[in-house]
Amino acid sequence: MDGLFLTLEGPDGSGKTTALHKALAVLKKEFPVLTIVISREPGGTAIAEKIRHVILDPANELMDNRTEALLYAAARRQHICEVILPHLRKGHIIISDRYVDSSIVYQGVARHIGVEAVKTLNYFATEGLTPARTFYFDLDPEIGLKRIKKAGGDRPDDRLEKEKLAFHKEVRKGYLTLAKENPDRIFTIDASRSVAQVQEDLYNELKEMISSYIRKREKA
Ligand code: TYD
Repeated sequence: MDGLFLTLEGPDGSGKTTALHKALAVLKKEFPVLTIVISREPGGTAIAEKIRHVILDPANELMDNRTEALLYAAARRQHICEVILPHLRKGHIIISDRYVDSSIVYQGVARHIGVEAVKTLNYFATEGLTPARTFYFDLDPEIGLKRIKKAGGDRPDDRLEKEKLAFHKEVRKGYLTLAKENPDRIFTIDASRSVAQVQEDLYNELKEMISSYIRKREKA
């Protein structure tokens, strides 16, 4: 595979999506010869966006936890086939806002399906495709949920946002465990600091990753 696959992870309200778009605007100018693409999960393709709608619809109160895990994995499979792999094959840099780690912590840990079961399900979906680096935005969920309320105004919560604080605390615990277990892949960004500092951190890390990818490509 010629391209570079990176992912972003973190709780709702951690500011990762805004930080990514800001960083990308600068990086695109700094590396004009490279194609750098952002995508997101669940979603990123027409089919996966439809699945996203089903998963996040607050009306779907009856959704079983395993159904939820299967739907995330199905959306992921489609995203890989339609978006991630084609970009990697063309030598592009593809950055996905969420990927398998989200399923491990939200479904595996917080929904209590079990980490191993969710890993197995996702191995089927991804055939083992793993990002070269993951940037994890670490934030106390109490702060994250407050930020969502403030930013969203009257927008109703989606099905996952509606979950109680205890659920989001489990999500964070899950991420911290994953980060400990994967120190070479997962880089933790302290998202409790100012927006400007957090954005700068992500920008610097992405720039470093892209520069070393270019050096490797030139040597090959
Ligand atoms: P989204 O609005 O994209 O959240 P964010 O902006 O915080 O990334 O909604 C995605 C929600 O789905 C979010 O609450 C996390 C959850 N999720 C899972 O539970 N499992 C998964 O595998 C993925 C990709 C997301």
